[in-house]
Amino acid sequence: MTHTDRVLPAQPLITLDDFVAARGGADAIERATSLGPDSVIEAVTHSGLRGRGGAGFPTGRKWRTVRDYGTGASDASTVVVNGAEGEPGSFKDRSIMRANPFAVIEGALIAANVVGAEKVVIGLKASFAIETAIMRDAISAVEQAGWNGSITLELFGGPSAYLLGEETGLLEAIDGRPPFPRIAPPFRRGVDEQLETGREDDDTTRSAADLELAGPSDATTAAPTLVDNVETLANIGGIVRRGADWFREFGTADSPGTMVCTVSGQTPRHGVGEFAMGTSLRTVLETIGGADVDRVGAVLIGVSSPVLDRSQLDVALTYEAFEEIGSALGTGGFIVYDDAADLVRVAAGVARFLAVESCGQCTPCKSDGRAIADGLARMIEGGADRDGAQREVEDALKTVADSARCNLASQQQAVIGTLLPRCTQSASPHRDGGEIPPIVGIRDLVDGRFELDTDQLRKQPDWSFDDVDSGQAPADRIDSPVAVIAHGS
Ligand SMILES: Cc1cc2nc3c(=O)[nH]c(=O)nc-3n(C[C@H](O)[C@H](O)[C@H](O)COP(=O)(O)O)c2cc1C
Ligand code: SF4
Repeated sequence: MTHTDRVLPAQPLITLDDFVAARGGADAIERATSLGPDSVIEAVTHSGLRGRGGAGFPTGRKWRTVRDYGTGASDASTVVVNGAEGEPGSFKDRSIMRANPFAVIEGALIAANVVGAEKVVIGLKASFAIETAIMRDAISAVEQAGWNGSITLELFGGPSAYLLGEETGLLEAIDGRPPFPRIAPPFRRGVDEQLETGREDDDTTRSAADLELAGPSDATTAAPTLVDNVETLANIGGIVRRGADWFREFGTADSPGTMVCTVSGQTPRHGVGEFAMGTSLRTVLETIGGADVDRVGAVLIGVSSPVLDRSQLDVALTYEAFEEIGSALGTGGFIVYDDAADLVRVAAGVARFLAVESCGQCTPCKSDGRAIADGLARMIEGGADRDGAQREVEDALKTVADSARCNLASQQQAVIGTLLPRCTQSASPHRDGGEIPPIVGIRDLVDGRFELDTDQLRKQPDWSFDDVDSGQAPADRIDSPVAVIAHGS
């Protein structure tokens, strides 16, 4: 069996009764409480679950680190659910929240018990109206049922910036500042109650550029935050209820469990589906997208990993198999292009998206990112300047990730660096490659096609929607929250 429904049920489980009836087995929150934090961490570690937010970091190891840092901290830890999903070509977290909201909350509450957190914050984009309503109702139902005990559940709706999904950018936004990534990881510096309560440092206009690593004394007392992706947390209840070995019934030793994949681009259908890890990419593209794999020219994995071509479609959906072919699984969001598609346009779309969304705290990321995007735009025009433009792109790719604070700059290198060599083979002269879908986030799934967030195409590199870009970096221009809505439970 390849198509599964562990975290993405075919029929949405929208009420608490639906969820309890469908889950079978014990109450995972009660079971986690009776097992105790160390045994739960052991079970999660033994399950081999890896974070589904893109990096694939082992979840049990992260929980252990946060618990250890939290022990001895002066304040309680916090759990943040990363539901910001801004990766182009990814709609899996919103699909899970729509179909299985209680599994996400269940996982977050178990995590909170394990790391000693008093608060769970579910972080979404304010524009995710459907998911916000579903999660708000689910929180109310959980509170009425008393599942949360003394743990507070909050919903946070942040700006539509791509960097809201970067974990420290999300913490910045929750703290009331723009979503500019920090240097300190969440286990070193969590959500900062101090800035909200005004006890000290009460300057909400200070950006991440000023908030570096916690100082030596803070490092032992600052409360850490555990940030986990929606899909990661939706897997926790099953592991606690049925055990690590049950989780490992799907997948491989290094990539156990299932993965919720999104397929979009030039395929007959768009959609989301959950697959046993180890399933071939070919099966995923055919099952969800109805793709004619003999016509596939390139497959983007969001805008985060090296691009794949048709000869690589038999790769298994595992972290190790993708690594072996020089790529990475990312969030399992696959954007498919026909073999007649003009890859220069695809590359230009990716480069523009990343250059615009760069916050500019690291100069090479913004300035070289813009040079890459500009060079590719000139390559589309062709003509005598094409080779010169390509050389400029190649040069800027060498330095774009220098001193980068987050992974966005390396994404430019990974995606454009692998697309560029293929851009020399121009689009098929025999066949029209069709319209290239823009590289932007997904707004919704309507009748088997994704509606795309085309407003993003008007966003300027300074993060304004003005007609003309100011030339300033967002980090130099913006010092207050960008359209943030906080929802109490
Ligand atoms: C530019 C950028 C954007 C990201 N966007 C998301 C996102 O939308 N959702 C998400 O869960 N993780 C995103 N991540 C990864 C998070 O920083 C982090 O690794 C993840 O939330 C950790 O959770 P996990 O261990 O459960 O995967 C992004 C990372 C980068 C560098
Ligand atoms: S690498 Fe780019 S996006 Fe990340 S913090 Fe630096 S400038 Fe911002």
